[in-house]
Amino acid sequence: MAKSETLHDAFIDELRDTYDAEKQIIKALPKMVKAASSPGLKAAFTAHLEETRGQVGRLEQVFASLDEKVRGKHCDGVAGILEEGKAIMEEDFDESTMDACLIAGAQRVEHYEMAAYGTLVAWARAMGHSDAARLLEATLNEEKAADGKLSKLAEGGINQDAADMAHPSEEPDHNAPAAKKKAQKPAKKATRRR
Ligand SMILES: [Fe+2]
Repeated sequence: MAKSETLHDAFIDELRDTYDAEKQIIKALPKMVKAASSPGLKAAFTAHLEETRGQVGRLEQVFASLDEKVRGKHCDGVAGILEEGKAIMEEDFDESTMDACLIAGAQRVEHYEMAAYGTLVAWARAMGHSDAARLLEATLNEEKAADGKLSKLAEGGINQDAADMAHPSEEPDHNAPAAKKKAQKPAKKATRRR
């Protein structure tokens, strides 16, 4: 039997997974920019695309600092979240509801990444890989900031606009009209997610 794998092996594996996740996100973000209507949200996604390219570069530096070849390994977790996001974009939502749902999907990605980078930073520190830890922490902070920016956009008007579409003030009975059903369903989803 081969000798058991160590935390260092798990760390490298996790880095490869995260590297692949970032690459998947780079492919998905331009579609999210297109699907968004709010100029602020479009700008946030565009800025995060640029940031994500930098994060890929940072991961390459991490691999180099560990004398490891740059390699990705398919990240099923982010693939699943992005698949859900794709399904959202295919829905026939009104503009603000689509924006609210895009934010909900994007925040799922951010939280996945925050979990991944949080672990990577902690493991790098525990093993004394200080250069790697510093680089990974810079990305962790960017992911946290991106998540905060999305919350601000959602709570700064987008959710309310979507909610108003679902429950217009002149129509307090939101169960009755069939025409409102489409807008109503996603708005519920969006509120439930936060
Ligand atoms: Fe990222």
